[in-house]
Amino acid sequence: MTTAARDYHTILQQAKALTQGETHLISNLANVAALLKTLSGYFWVGFYIVDGNELVLGPFQGPVACTRIAYGKGVCGTAWKQNTTIVVPDVHLFPGHIACNAASKSEIVVPVRNQTGAVTMVIDVDSDQPNNFGPDDAAALENLARLIGGLHAI
Ligand code: SME
Repeated sequence: MTTAARDYHTILQQAKALTQGETHLISNLANVAALLKTLSGYFWVGFYIVDGNELVLGPFQGPVACTRIAYGKGVCGTAWKQNTTIVVPDVHLFPGHIACNAASKSEIVVPVRNQTGAVTMVIDVDSDQPNNFGPDDAAALENLARLIGGLHAI
């Protein structure tokens, strides 16, 4: 599937609809992970939530994954530290990439910020195909991150 074939418009609309009537963050993240996995078809989708100086695994869809990632480590910890979206076309070429599953070939990580601009979690999406994320994915996942950043916190 090319990135253009992913229906991010529907994903965003449904994410808004699913989360507007519910205030519990974990419940909302669980449904957004299921939505993203189902409609994007990517191999692994989920959230890593800031917990002190680490990220801890949150709701996700896909194979089991690493539970804790230190600040600045891996793609997720680097996206948190740099407070920016990171697209990794080939995970083997990213220094310090944390391999939770050998099937993962490319990855995108997008920070979620709260209303003060602090990173509270990251969205992590992995593909089992190399070079499977482009500007459309980054723009759409950043929109999704804005929606999630505005949700009721725990
Ligand atoms: N590859 C990530 C770790 C999380 S898994 O991909 C689910 C990283 O390097 O931070």
